[in-house]
Amino acid sequence: MRIMGVGGGSREHALAEAIARSGHEPRIFWVSEDRNPGIYRLVKGTGGEYALTRITDPLKVASFAEQWGVDMVVIGPEEPNFHGVVDEVERRGIPCIGARKRLSILEMSKAEMRRIQWRYGISGKLLFKTYRSYMEAIKDLEEHSELLSWLQNVALKPARQAGGKGVKVIEDVQVYLHGEKSRFKQRHMRWLEDYMSGYADIEDKILVEEKVWGPEYTLQCFVDGRTVIGMPLVQDNKHAHEYDIGPETGGMGSYTGKGFLLPFITREEYERSLSIVKSMIDAVQKETGERYHGFVAGQMMLTEIEGPTLIEMYSRLGDPEGVNVLAMLETDIIDIFEAIIDERLSAVKIRFSDVATVVKAVAPKGYPDFRDLARDHPVEVDEALIEKLGCKLYWGSVHLDDSGQVLTKGSRVVEILAFGETTQEASQKIEDCLARGIVRLLDGWGLFHRSDIGSEEMIRKRMEMAERVRRLYTYRERMGILGKRVDWIPRIGKIDPVKELSHELFSRVGGGSYESG
Ligand code: GLY
Repeated sequence: MRIMGVGGGSREHALAEAIARSGHEPRIFWVSEDRNPGIYRLVKGTGGEYALTRITDPLKVASFAEQWGVDMVVIGPEEPNFHGVVDEVERRGIPCIGARKRLSILEMSKAEMRRIQWRYGISGKLLFKTYRSYMEAIKDLEEHSELLSWLQNVALKPARQAGGKGVKVIEDVQVYLHGEKSRFKQRHMRWLEDYMSGYADIEDKILVEEKVWGPEYTLQCFVDGRTVIGMPLVQDNKHAHEYDIGPETGGMGSYTGKGFLLPFITREEYERSLSIVKSMIDAVQKETGERYHGFVAGQMMLTEIEGPTLIEMYSRLGDPEGVNVLAMLETDIIDIFEAIIDERLSAVKIRFSDVATVVKAVAPKGYPDFRDLARDHPVEVDEALIEKLGCKLYWGSVHLDDSGQVLTKGSRVVEILAFGETTQEASQKIEDCLARGIVRLLDGWGLFHRSDIGSEEMIRKRMEMAERVRRLYTYRERMGILGKRVDWIPRIGKIDPVKELSHELFSRVGGGSYESG
């Protein structure tokens, strides 16, 4: 069995490791833009080949698959999906675990994802509107500021997947729209427009969405075009620093609880979340007439409006969330891949070990906002000590050069994983490991990580938040107003602000109708 992987981060290192564990004894081949030392070693250990190439170029990736005569290809990151790599590999008769271009719209366009959700009446929706420019968005918000007085908070996002970056939460729209904030708005506008100008593949540039609060969690799944199988829930933590402060990153660390669920999500909430993801897959398959083979994930939030709510989708595993679940996977991953290709996933019993896991990313100072400062530092790790202390290392954004030196590329350098009876125990194992200096930059440049991920305090806070939100959404459920945007005034009853004031602002939902009142 020959299998080729695409992509070069920690998630892909975890994928390569899961493949190397397979009883099929595969020869592993790999393409990525930098040489990941962990993947490189696994590939060489199986007698495979590793090539550097542009992984968003379908012709190049498919040519390597053909040249190496592989039996299947598995895609790690999202951009190859968006660029049609899966379509080209399959066109050459090679099965591929990855979302075809038209199916990956669920992730690439946050606007299109939301339109599909409204069009098919899938629960867990948010009100939204798209714009071609930031100025157009601000003008519209200003014109409808009366309506926004009930909405108060909105999120402004790049309408295209932007590696988790660029989301601006406007805590008080009235204040934001005020003239005095114009310098701030200009700066934000320049950032968003510069960012989006790099992408000609999408018409909607800016997405304005109602802002919701609650604990977030990621539900990752295997899909074979007929069946969607959910994996254990994971919570990723996006902010750079402890207590959720600092800029948003691609993810600074993630954890799972024991027993499939997170400590703050109930079985019923898991089932509702899975049903949302399944309905989205059914809908996008109907829209495109194509079959989805690969990974999908719902980035979810428990909200007071509707309970489990879809914030975004991934056409892949999350990073770092994928590292948690791949390390827990007990079933042979190649058996799963073969079942996906043959569309018989429902017949496979997929097992995960019943442990808690924590993953912490270690990043060079400068990440995420000043990546040039975070780049080109030589890295050294003590792998023997990491293993002795009961942790595992996954190489991330680094390059192993021809002289054998590992250099940082500006993002998360490594991810460290530990298992535990509890999340707190796993978190502490990683802390003990990092305190021993198991990762260092040889030129003395600093590294940072989040010590709080999976800690007792973090989990307690998430549980308290979930409890508050759960009280509200179950109350709404009892009142029959789940998912409705209403203000409820005691003794007067329901007021529907969308209906009362204007249908205008959030009315462009791609031909669908939205619930109100
Ligand atoms: N953990 C965030 C992402 O995978 O995009």
